Amino acid sequence: MRIVPSLVIAGGISTVSAKKVFIDNDGLNALQLLIPLYGGYDVVGVSMSFGSSSTVDSLGSGYDVLTSYNMTSCIPLYLGAQQPLIQTNETFHLHSTLFGAPVWEGAFTPGYVDSYNISNITYSDVPGALALIDAVKAYKDTDPVMIWAAGMMTTVAQALSIYPKLVDEAAGLYIMGGYVDTQFAQATGDSFQVDVNTDINLIQDPEAAQIVLTAGWKDLYIGANVTNYLVPSQQLYDRLIIKAGGLDVINENDYLAPVQDIVLSGNYSLNSNDTENILPFWDEVVSAFMAFPNILTSVTSVRAAVDTSFYSPFYGNLRVWGSDFAPTTGYRTGNATIVNSIKKDKFYDLLVDVLFEDWREYCHIGQYTSLKGKLNGY
Ligand SMILES: *[C@@H]1O[C@H](CO)[C@@H](O)[C@H](O)[C@H]1NC(C)=O
Ligand SMILES: *[C@@H]1O[C@H](CO)[C@@H](O)[C@H](O)[C@H]1NC(C)=O
Ligand SMILES: *[C@@H]1O[C@H](CO)[C@@H](O)[C@H](O)[C@H]1NC(C)=O
Ligand SMILES: *[C@@H]1O[C@H](CO)[C@@H](O)[C@H](O)[C@H]1NC(C)=O
Ligand SMILES: *[C@@H]1O[C@H](CO)[C@@H](O)[C@H](O)[C@H]1NC(C)=O
Ligand SMILES: *[C@@H]1O[C@H](CO)[C@@H](O)[C@H](O)[C@H]1NC(C)=O
Ligand SMILES: *[C@@H]1O[C@H](CO)[C@@H](O)[C@H](O)[C@H]1NC(C)=O
Ligand SMILES: *[C@@H]1O[C@H](CO)[C@@H](O)[C@H](O)[C@H]1NC(C)=O
Repeated sequence: MRIVPSLVIAGGISTVSAKKVFIDNDGLNALQLLIPLYGGYDVVGVSMSFGSSSTVDSLGSGYDVLTSYNMTSCIPLYLGAQQPLIQTNETFHLHSTLFGAPVWEGAFTPGYVDSYNISNITYSDVPGALALIDAVKAYKDTDPVMIWAAGMMTTVAQALSIYPKLVDEAAGLYIMGGYVDTQFAQATGDSFQVDVNTDINLIQDPEAAQIVLTAGWKDLYIGANVTNYLVPSQQLYDRLIIKAGGLDVINENDYLAPVQDIVLSGNYSLNSNDTENILPFWDEVVSAFMAFPNILTSVTSVRAAVDTSFYSPFYGNLRVWGSDFAPTTGYRTGNATIVNSIKKDKFYDLLVDVLFEDWREYCHIGQYTSLKGKLNGY
Protein backbone atom coordinates (compact mmCIF):
# COMPACT_ATOMS: atom_id res chain seq x y z
CA MET A 1 0.00 0.00 0.00
CA ARG A 2 1.18 3.46 -0.80
CA ILE A 3 1.10 6.23 1.75
CA VAL A 4 1.42 9.62 0.12
CA PRO A 5 3.93 12.02 1.66
CA SER A 6 1.19 14.45 2.68
CA LEU A 7 0.09 12.15 5.47
CA VAL A 8 3.38 12.07 7.23
CA ILE A 9 5.81 14.86 6.47
CA ALA A 10 6.75 16.60 9.65
CA GLY A 11 6.63 20.27 8.82
CA GLY A 12 6.05 19.49 5.15
CA ILE A 13 3.46 20.94 2.86
CA SER A 14 0.20 19.03 3.01
CA THR A 15 -1.27 18.37 -0.39
CA VAL A 16 -4.34 16.35 -1.28
CA SER A 17 -2.50 14.37 -3.88
CA ALA A 18 1.02 13.99 -5.17
CA LYS A 19 2.35 14.50 -8.66
CA LYS A 20 2.90 11.20 -10.40
CA VAL A 21 5.67 10.00 -12.67
CA PHE A 22 6.25 6.78 -14.58
CA ILE A 23 9.92 6.03 -15.23
CA ASP A 24 11.17 4.16 -18.28
CA ASN A 25 14.88 3.76 -18.92
CA ASP A 26 17.54 1.42 -20.23
CA GLY A 27 19.11 1.10 -16.80
CA LEU A 28 18.56 3.01 -13.59
CA ASN A 29 20.69 4.74 -11.01
CA ALA A 30 19.76 6.06 -7.59
CA LEU A 31 19.54 9.73 -8.56
CA GLN A 32 17.03 9.04 -11.32
CA LEU A 33 14.66 7.59 -8.73
CA LEU A 34 15.43 9.82 -5.76
CA ILE A 35 15.36 13.22 -7.49
CA PRO A 36 11.68 12.95 -8.51
CA LEU A 37 10.78 11.61 -5.06
CA TYR A 38 12.67 14.50 -3.47
CA GLY A 39 10.70 16.89 -5.70
CA GLY A 40 7.42 15.49 -4.36
CA TYR A 41 6.68 13.05 -7.16
CA ASP A 42 5.12 9.71 -6.47
CA VAL A 43 6.84 7.13 -8.70
CA VAL A 44 3.98 4.94 -9.99
CA GLY A 45 6.16 2.50 -11.87
CA VAL A 46 9.66 1.78 -13.09
CA SER A 47 9.94 0.05 -16.44
CA MET A 48 13.32 -1.08 -17.68
CA SER A 49 13.91 -1.53 -21.39
CA PHE A 50 16.51 -2.59 -23.92
CA GLY A 51 18.92 0.11 -25.12
CA SER A 52 22.31 1.01 -23.74
CA SER A 53 22.02 -2.17 -21.69
CA SER A 54 20.40 -5.49 -22.53
CA THR A 55 16.91 -5.93 -21.10
CA VAL A 56 18.10 -8.18 -18.29
CA ASP A 57 20.83 -5.72 -17.29
CA SER A 58 18.42 -2.79 -17.38
CA LEU A 59 15.98 -4.71 -15.25
CA GLY A 60 18.74 -5.79 -12.87
CA SER A 61 19.92 -2.22 -12.34
CA GLY A 62 16.34 -1.11 -11.61
CA TYR A 63 15.95 -3.98 -9.18
CA ASP A 64 19.20 -3.09 -7.42
CA VAL A 65 18.20 0.55 -6.91
CA LEU A 66 14.73 -0.32 -5.60
CA THR A 67 16.14 -3.04 -3.36
CA SER A 68 18.96 -0.99 -1.91
CA TYR A 69 16.55 1.81 -0.97
CA ASN A 70 13.97 -0.69 0.36
CA MET A 71 11.34 0.51 -2.09
CA THR A 72 10.23 -2.70 -3.78
CA SER A 73 7.03 -2.83 -1.71
CA CYS A 74 5.65 0.47 -3.04
CA ILE A 75 7.32 1.04 -6.42
CA PRO A 76 6.59 -1.71 -8.94
CA LEU A 77 9.28 -2.85 -11.36
CA TYR A 78 8.33 -3.81 -14.91
CA LEU A 79 10.11 -5.16 -17.94
CA GLY A 80 9.66 -2.78 -20.86
CA ALA A 81 10.47 -3.16 -24.55
CA GLN A 82 12.96 -5.91 -25.22
CA GLN A 83 13.88 -4.80 -28.73
CA PRO A 84 13.40 -1.78 -31.01
CA LEU A 85 10.36 -1.63 -33.31
CA ILE A 86 12.22 -2.13 -36.60
CA GLN A 87 15.92 -1.61 -35.93
CA THR A 88 17.87 -4.82 -35.41
CA ASN A 89 21.43 -5.56 -34.47
CA GLU A 90 22.05 -6.21 -38.18
CA THR A 91 20.47 -2.98 -39.48
CA PHE A 92 22.22 -0.97 -36.77
CA HIS A 93 25.63 -2.30 -37.81
CA LEU A 94 24.80 -2.11 -41.53
CA HIS A 95 23.97 1.57 -41.07
CA SER A 96 27.31 2.11 -39.35
CA THR A 97 29.06 0.43 -42.26
CA LEU A 98 27.30 2.71 -44.74
CA PHE A 99 27.48 6.03 -42.90
CA GLY A 100 29.96 5.81 -40.04
CA ALA A 101 29.86 4.23 -36.61
CA PRO A 102 28.91 5.79 -33.28
CA VAL A 103 31.44 5.15 -30.51
CA TRP A 104 28.85 3.84 -28.07
CA GLU A 105 26.70 0.97 -29.39
CA GLY A 106 24.87 0.04 -26.20
CA ALA A 107 23.44 -3.45 -26.11
CA PHE A 108 24.32 -3.75 -29.80
CA THR A 109 28.02 -3.69 -28.91
CA PRO A 110 29.72 -6.74 -30.40
CA GLY A 111 30.53 -9.22 -27.67
CA TYR A 112 28.10 -7.68 -25.15
CA VAL A 113 27.79 -10.03 -22.17
CA ASP A 114 24.93 -9.78 -19.67
CA SER A 115 25.87 -8.96 -16.07
CA TYR A 116 22.62 -10.16 -14.49
CA ASN A 117 20.69 -13.40 -14.51
CA ILE A 118 16.95 -12.82 -14.91
CA SER A 119 16.14 -15.63 -12.48
CA ASN A 120 17.70 -13.48 -9.73
CA ILE A 121 15.34 -10.54 -10.34
CA THR A 122 11.85 -10.10 -8.93
CA TYR A 123 9.58 -8.00 -11.15
CA SER A 124 5.94 -7.70 -12.18
CA ASP A 125 4.72 -9.93 -14.99
CA VAL A 126 2.79 -6.99 -16.52
CA PRO A 127 4.73 -5.71 -19.55
CA GLY A 128 6.07 -2.16 -19.14
CA ALA A 129 3.89 -0.65 -21.90
CA LEU A 130 0.70 -2.04 -20.32
CA ALA A 131 1.75 -0.89 -16.87
CA LEU A 132 2.33 2.59 -18.28
CA ILE A 133 -1.15 2.63 -19.82
CA ASP A 134 -2.73 1.41 -16.58
CA ALA A 135 -0.91 4.06 -14.54
CA VAL A 136 -1.90 6.88 -16.90
CA LYS A 137 -5.54 5.71 -16.93
CA ALA A 138 -5.67 5.32 -13.15
CA TYR A 139 -4.71 8.92 -12.40
CA LYS A 140 -5.96 10.78 -15.48
CA ASP A 141 -8.71 12.59 -13.58
CA THR A 142 -6.80 13.32 -10.39
CA ASP A 143 -3.03 13.56 -10.93
CA PRO A 144 -2.19 13.01 -14.61
CA VAL A 145 1.00 10.97 -14.84
CA MET A 146 4.18 12.51 -16.20
CA ILE A 147 6.25 10.12 -18.29
CA TRP A 148 10.03 10.28 -17.92
CA ALA A 149 11.76 8.23 -20.60
CA ALA A 150 15.53 8.39 -20.75
CA GLY A 151 16.38 5.48 -23.02
CA MET A 152 14.91 4.45 -26.36
CA MET A 153 11.31 5.51 -26.96
CA THR A 154 10.14 1.97 -27.73
CA THR A 155 8.11 1.28 -24.59
CA VAL A 156 6.24 4.58 -24.89
CA ALA A 157 5.66 3.93 -28.62
CA GLN A 158 4.21 0.52 -27.81
CA ALA A 159 1.89 2.06 -25.24
CA LEU A 160 0.75 4.74 -27.73
CA SER A 161 -0.01 2.08 -30.32
CA ILE A 162 -2.13 0.07 -27.90
CA TYR A 163 -3.75 3.13 -26.31
CA PRO A 164 -3.50 6.35 -28.37
CA LYS A 165 -5.37 8.33 -25.69
CA LEU A 166 -2.23 8.01 -23.60
CA VAL A 167 -0.99 11.23 -25.13
CA ASP A 168 -4.06 13.17 -23.93
CA GLU A 169 -4.36 11.53 -20.56
CA ALA A 170 -0.72 11.83 -19.50
CA ALA A 171 0.60 15.11 -18.08
CA GLY A 172 3.44 15.10 -20.60
CA LEU A 173 6.76 13.57 -21.50
CA TYR A 174 10.36 14.30 -20.53
CA ILE A 175 13.07 12.64 -22.58
CA MET A 176 16.84 12.44 -22.58
CA GLY A 177 18.12 12.59 -26.16
CA GLY A 178 17.64 14.80 -29.16
CA TYR A 179 20.94 16.63 -29.58
CA VAL A 180 21.19 19.41 -32.15
CA ASP A 181 24.17 21.02 -33.84
CA THR A 182 26.64 18.36 -32.78
CA GLN A 183 28.09 17.59 -36.19
CA PHE A 184 31.07 19.91 -35.83
CA ALA A 185 31.83 18.63 -32.33
CA GLN A 186 31.77 15.10 -33.70
CA ALA A 187 34.02 16.02 -36.61
CA THR A 188 36.62 17.75 -34.47
CA GLY A 189 36.40 15.80 -31.21
CA ASP A 190 38.20 12.77 -29.88
CA SER A 191 36.32 9.50 -29.41
CA PHE A 192 34.92 10.72 -26.07
CA GLN A 193 33.55 13.88 -27.71
CA VAL A 194 32.05 11.82 -30.53
CA ASP A 195 30.53 9.47 -27.96
CA VAL A 196 28.86 12.16 -25.85
CA ASN A 197 27.59 13.98 -28.93
CA THR A 198 25.95 10.88 -30.45
CA ASP A 199 22.25 10.46 -29.91
CA ILE A 200 22.15 6.79 -29.01
CA ASN A 201 18.66 6.91 -27.47
CA LEU A 202 17.12 8.02 -30.75
CA ILE A 203 19.36 6.21 -33.24
CA GLN A 204 18.84 2.83 -31.60
CA ASP A 205 15.11 3.02 -32.36
CA PRO A 206 14.43 5.89 -34.78
CA GLU A 207 10.88 4.81 -35.67
CA ALA A 208 9.79 4.65 -32.02
CA ALA A 209 11.35 8.05 -31.41
CA GLN A 210 9.48 9.59 -34.35
CA ILE A 211 6.15 8.08 -33.20
CA VAL A 212 6.62 9.30 -29.65
CA LEU A 213 8.05 12.77 -30.25
CA THR A 214 5.31 13.71 -32.73
CA ALA A 215 2.38 12.18 -30.83
CA GLY A 216 1.06 15.54 -29.58
CA TRP A 217 1.85 15.65 -25.84
CA LYS A 218 0.57 18.50 -23.70
CA ASP A 219 4.19 19.07 -22.76
CA LEU A 220 7.28 17.51 -24.29
CA TYR A 221 10.62 18.45 -22.77
CA ILE A 222 13.79 17.38 -24.54
CA GLY A 223 16.88 17.34 -22.35
CA ALA A 224 19.42 17.27 -25.09
CA ASN A 225 22.67 19.27 -25.29
CA VAL A 226 22.26 20.71 -21.80
CA THR A 227 22.69 17.29 -20.24
CA ASN A 228 26.24 17.10 -21.60
CA TYR A 229 27.30 20.15 -19.62
CA LEU A 230 26.64 18.76 -16.13
CA VAL A 231 29.59 16.54 -15.34
CA PRO A 232 31.63 15.07 -12.49
CA SER A 233 34.60 17.14 -11.31
CA GLN A 234 37.19 17.17 -8.54
CA GLN A 235 35.17 19.92 -6.90
CA LEU A 236 32.08 17.70 -6.81
CA TYR A 237 34.08 14.73 -5.48
CA ASP A 238 35.56 16.92 -2.74
CA ARG A 239 32.13 18.11 -1.77
CA LEU A 240 30.74 14.57 -1.54
CA ILE A 241 33.78 13.32 0.36
CA ILE A 242 33.67 16.20 2.85
CA LYS A 243 29.93 15.74 3.32
CA ALA A 244 30.46 12.03 4.07
CA GLY A 245 33.34 12.72 6.43
CA GLY A 246 35.98 11.03 4.30
CA LEU A 247 36.41 8.65 1.38
CA ASP A 248 36.62 5.78 3.88
CA VAL A 249 33.12 6.50 5.09
CA ILE A 250 31.88 6.31 1.50
CA ASN A 251 33.76 3.09 0.84
CA GLU A 252 32.73 1.39 4.06
CA ASN A 253 28.97 1.94 3.90
CA ASP A 254 26.93 0.04 1.31
CA TYR A 255 24.23 2.69 1.60
CA LEU A 256 26.64 5.17 0.04
CA ALA A 257 27.38 2.94 -2.98
CA PRO A 258 25.75 5.49 -5.33
CA VAL A 259 28.17 8.12 -3.96
CA GLN A 260 31.06 5.68 -4.42
CA ASP A 261 29.92 5.17 -8.04
CA ILE A 262 30.44 8.91 -8.59
CA VAL A 263 33.67 9.58 -6.70
CA LEU A 264 35.39 6.22 -7.31
CA SER A 265 39.04 6.84 -6.39
CA GLY A 266 38.13 10.36 -5.28
CA ASN A 267 40.69 11.74 -7.74
CA TYR A 268 39.32 13.12 -10.99
CA SER A 269 42.52 12.80 -12.97
CA LEU A 270 42.89 9.17 -11.96
CA ASN A 271 39.23 8.43 -12.71
CA SER A 272 39.37 10.11 -16.10
CA ASN A 273 41.80 7.45 -17.20
CA ASP A 274 38.57 5.64 -18.20
CA THR A 275 36.02 8.03 -19.73
CA GLU A 276 33.18 5.75 -18.60
CA ASN A 277 34.00 7.10 -15.10
CA ILE A 278 33.42 10.73 -15.99
CA LEU A 279 30.32 10.63 -18.17
CA PRO A 280 27.91 13.56 -17.94
CA PHE A 281 24.88 13.32 -15.63
CA TRP A 282 22.65 12.88 -18.68
CA ASP A 283 19.41 11.35 -17.40
CA GLU A 284 19.73 12.85 -13.92
CA VAL A 285 19.66 16.34 -15.41
CA VAL A 286 16.29 15.54 -16.97
CA SER A 287 15.07 14.17 -13.62
CA ALA A 288 16.18 17.40 -12.00
CA PHE A 289 14.47 19.90 -14.29
CA MET A 290 11.31 17.79 -14.35
CA ALA A 291 11.12 17.67 -10.55
CA PHE A 292 12.46 21.21 -10.03
CA PRO A 293 11.37 23.30 -13.04
CA ASN A 294 12.64 26.44 -11.30
CA ILE A 295 16.20 25.42 -12.22
CA LEU A 296 15.47 25.98 -15.92
CA THR A 297 17.15 29.13 -17.20
CA SER A 298 16.67 28.90 -20.96
CA VAL A 299 14.37 26.87 -23.17
CA THR A 300 13.40 27.03 -26.85
CA SER A 301 10.08 25.97 -28.37
CA VAL A 302 10.43 24.10 -31.62
CA ARG A 303 8.65 21.67 -33.84
CA ALA A 304 10.52 18.41 -33.85
CA ALA A 305 10.75 15.16 -35.75
CA VAL A 306 13.17 12.28 -36.12
CA ASP A 307 14.78 11.24 -39.40
CA THR A 308 13.44 7.78 -40.19
CA SER A 309 15.06 7.34 -43.61
CA PHE A 310 17.37 4.38 -43.25
CA TYR A 311 19.44 5.46 -46.23
CA SER A 312 20.43 8.72 -44.55
CA PRO A 313 23.48 9.57 -42.46
CA PHE A 314 21.02 11.27 -40.08
CA TYR A 315 18.81 8.22 -39.54
CA GLY A 316 17.60 8.54 -35.95
CA ASN A 317 18.70 12.14 -35.48
CA LEU A 318 16.44 14.90 -34.23
CA ARG A 319 15.40 17.59 -36.71
CA VAL A 320 13.94 20.87 -35.43
CA TRP A 321 12.09 23.76 -37.08
CA GLY A 322 10.64 27.07 -36.01
CA SER A 323 6.88 26.62 -35.87
CA ASP A 324 6.33 28.82 -38.95
CA PHE A 325 8.70 26.77 -41.07
CA ALA A 326 7.91 23.19 -40.12
CA PRO A 327 6.33 20.89 -42.67
CA THR A 328 2.58 20.99 -42.31
CA THR A 329 1.84 17.98 -44.48
CA GLY A 330 3.95 15.02 -45.38
CA TYR A 331 6.39 14.68 -42.53
CA ARG A 332 4.81 14.58 -39.11
CA THR A 333 6.26 16.95 -36.50
CA GLY A 334 5.39 17.70 -32.89
CA ASN A 335 5.76 20.64 -30.52
CA ALA A 336 8.65 20.31 -28.16
CA THR A 337 10.55 22.37 -25.63
CA ILE A 338 14.31 22.04 -25.89
CA VAL A 339 16.14 22.83 -22.68
CA ASN A 340 19.23 24.96 -23.33
CA SER A 341 20.48 25.61 -19.81
CA ILE A 342 19.75 25.06 -16.15
CA LYS A 343 21.15 26.44 -12.89
CA LYS A 344 24.19 24.21 -12.60
CA ASP A 345 24.88 24.92 -8.94
CA LYS A 346 21.33 23.97 -8.00
CA PHE A 347 21.75 20.68 -9.86
CA TYR A 348 24.92 19.77 -7.95
CA ASP A 349 23.31 20.84 -4.66
CA LEU A 350 20.39 18.55 -5.38
CA LEU A 351 22.66 15.65 -6.26
CA VAL A 352 24.52 15.97 -2.95
CA ASP A 353 21.36 16.46 -0.90
CA VAL A 354 19.35 13.47 -2.13
CA LEU A 355 22.20 10.99 -1.75
CA PHE A 356 22.67 11.91 1.91
CA GLU A 357 19.13 11.28 3.08
CA ASP A 358 17.84 7.98 4.39
CA TRP A 359 15.23 6.67 1.95
CA ARG A 360 14.84 3.18 3.37
CA GLU A 361 11.60 3.88 5.19
CA TYR A 362 10.01 5.64 2.23
CA CYS A 363 7.47 2.88 1.50
CA HIS A 364 6.54 2.72 5.13
CA ILE A 365 6.22 6.40 6.04
CA GLY A 366 6.19 8.11 2.64
CA GLN A 367 9.21 10.28 3.31
CA TYR A 368 12.95 10.22 3.74
CA THR A 369 14.51 10.61 7.16
CA SER A 370 17.85 11.94 8.29
CA LEU A 371 20.83 9.73 7.60
CA LYS A 372 22.99 11.36 10.25
CA GLY A 373 24.29 8.94 12.85
CA LYS A 374 22.98 5.85 11.07
CA LEU A 375 26.08 4.89 9.14
CA ASN A 376 29.51 3.89 10.24
CA GLY A 377 31.25 7.27 10.51
CA TYR A 378 28.46 9.51 9.18
C1 LIG B 1 25.55 -7.72 -33.44
O1 LIG B 1 26.30 -7.42 -34.59
C2 LIG B 1 27.70 -7.37 -34.37
C3 LIG B 1 28.38 -6.86 -35.61
O2 LIG B 1 27.89 -7.53 -36.72
C4 LIG B 1 28.17 -8.75 -33.94
O3 LIG B 1 29.55 -8.70 -33.65
C5 LIG B 1 27.41 -9.17 -32.70
O4 LIG B 1 27.75 -10.48 -32.34
C6 LIG B 1 25.92 -9.10 -32.92
N1 LIG B 1 25.26 -9.31 -31.65
C7 LIG B 1 24.30 -10.21 -31.51
C8 LIG B 1 23.71 -10.31 -30.14
O5 LIG B 1 23.90 -10.91 -32.42
C1 LIG C 1 22.35 -14.94 -8.97
O1 LIG C 1 22.21 -15.13 -7.58
C2 LIG C 1 23.08 -16.11 -7.06
C3 LIG C 1 22.69 -16.38 -5.62
O2 LIG C 1 22.60 -15.17 -4.91
C4 LIG C 1 24.52 -15.60 -7.20
O3 LIG C 1 25.42 -16.56 -6.72
C5 LIG C 1 24.79 -15.35 -8.68
O4 LIG C 1 26.07 -14.76 -8.82
C6 LIG C 1 23.75 -14.43 -9.27
N1 LIG C 1 23.97 -14.36 -10.71
C7 LIG C 1 24.10 -13.22 -11.35
C8 LIG C 1 24.40 -13.33 -12.80
O5 LIG C 1 23.95 -12.14 -10.82
C1 LIG D 1 20.60 -18.24 -14.23
O1 LIG D 1 20.31 -18.85 -13.01
C2 LIG D 1 19.65 -20.11 -13.16
C3 LIG D 1 19.19 -20.56 -11.77
O2 LIG D 1 20.18 -20.30 -10.81
C4 LIG D 1 20.60 -21.09 -13.83
O3 LIG D 1 19.97 -22.32 -14.02
C5 LIG D 1 20.99 -20.52 -15.18
O4 LIG D 1 21.95 -21.34 -15.79
C6 LIG D 1 21.55 -19.11 -15.05
N1 LIG D 1 21.73 -18.53 -16.35
C7 LIG D 1 22.83 -17.88 -16.70
C8 LIG D 1 22.84 -17.31 -18.07
O5 LIG D 1 23.77 -17.72 -15.93
C1 LIG E 1 24.88 21.57 -28.95
O1 LIG E 1 26.13 20.99 -28.68
C2 LIG E 1 27.11 21.26 -29.67
C3 LIG E 1 28.32 20.42 -29.35
O2 LIG E 1 28.70 20.51 -28.02
C4 LIG E 1 27.38 22.76 -29.73
O3 LIG E 1 28.36 23.02 -30.72
C5 LIG E 1 26.09 23.45 -30.07
O4 LIG E 1 26.27 24.84 -30.04
C6 LIG E 1 24.99 23.08 -29.10
N1 LIG E 1 23.74 23.63 -29.60
C7 LIG E 1 22.84 24.15 -28.79
C8 LIG E 1 21.60 24.68 -29.43
O5 LIG E 1 22.97 24.16 -27.59
C1 LIG F 1 45.32 12.88 -8.22
O1 LIG F 1 46.34 11.96 -8.49
C2 LIG F 1 47.45 12.53 -9.16
C3 LIG F 1 48.37 11.40 -9.58
O2 LIG F 1 48.65 10.56 -8.49
C4 LIG F 1 48.09 13.56 -8.25
O3 LIG F 1 49.17 14.18 -8.91
C5 LIG F 1 47.06 14.61 -7.88
O4 LIG F 1 47.59 15.52 -6.96
C6 LIG F 1 45.82 13.96 -7.31
N1 LIG F 1 44.80 14.98 -7.15
C7 LIG F 1 44.10 15.11 -6.02
C8 LIG F 1 43.07 16.17 -6.00
O5 LIG F 1 44.27 14.39 -5.06
C1 LIG G 1 45.09 4.05 -16.79
O1 LIG G 1 45.60 3.59 -15.55
C2 LIG G 1 46.21 2.32 -15.63
C3 LIG G 1 46.57 1.86 -14.22
O2 LIG G 1 46.44 2.86 -13.28
C4 LIG G 1 47.42 2.39 -16.54
O3 LIG G 1 48.01 1.13 -16.64
C5 LIG G 1 47.00 2.87 -17.92
O4 LIG G 1 48.12 3.07 -18.72
C6 LIG G 1 46.22 4.16 -17.82
N1 LIG G 1 45.67 4.47 -19.12
C7 LIG G 1 45.70 5.69 -19.62
C8 LIG G 1 45.03 5.85 -20.94
O5 LIG G 1 46.20 6.63 -19.03
C1 LIG H 1 2.23 23.96 -31.18
O1 LIG H 1 2.82 25.22 -30.94
C2 LIG H 1 2.23 26.28 -31.66
C3 LIG H 1 2.99 27.57 -31.33
O2 LIG H 1 4.34 27.38 -31.38
C4 LIG H 1 0.79 26.42 -31.26
O3 LIG H 1 0.18 27.42 -32.06
C5 LIG H 1 0.06 25.10 -31.48
O4 LIG H 1 -1.25 25.20 -30.98
C6 LIG H 1 0.78 23.99 -30.78
N1 LIG H 1 0.15 22.73 -31.10
C7 LIG H 1 -0.27 21.90 -30.18
C8 LIG H 1 -0.91 20.63 -30.68
O5 LIG H 1 -0.13 22.11 -28.99
C1 LIG I 1 11.83 -1.40 4.78
O1 LIG I 1 10.48 -1.21 4.42
C2 LIG I 1 9.60 -1.92 5.26
C3 LIG I 1 8.19 -1.85 4.66
O2 LIG I 1 7.89 -0.64 4.10
C4 LIG I 1 9.68 -1.36 6.65
O3 LIG I 1 8.81 -2.06 7.50
C5 LIG I 1 11.11 -1.48 7.15
O4 LIG I 1 11.24 -0.84 8.39
C6 LIG I 1 12.07 -0.83 6.16
N1 LIG I 1 13.46 -1.12 6.54
C7 LIG I 1 14.33 -0.16 6.89
C8 LIG I 1 15.73 -0.62 7.15
O5 LIG I 1 14.03 1.02 6.98
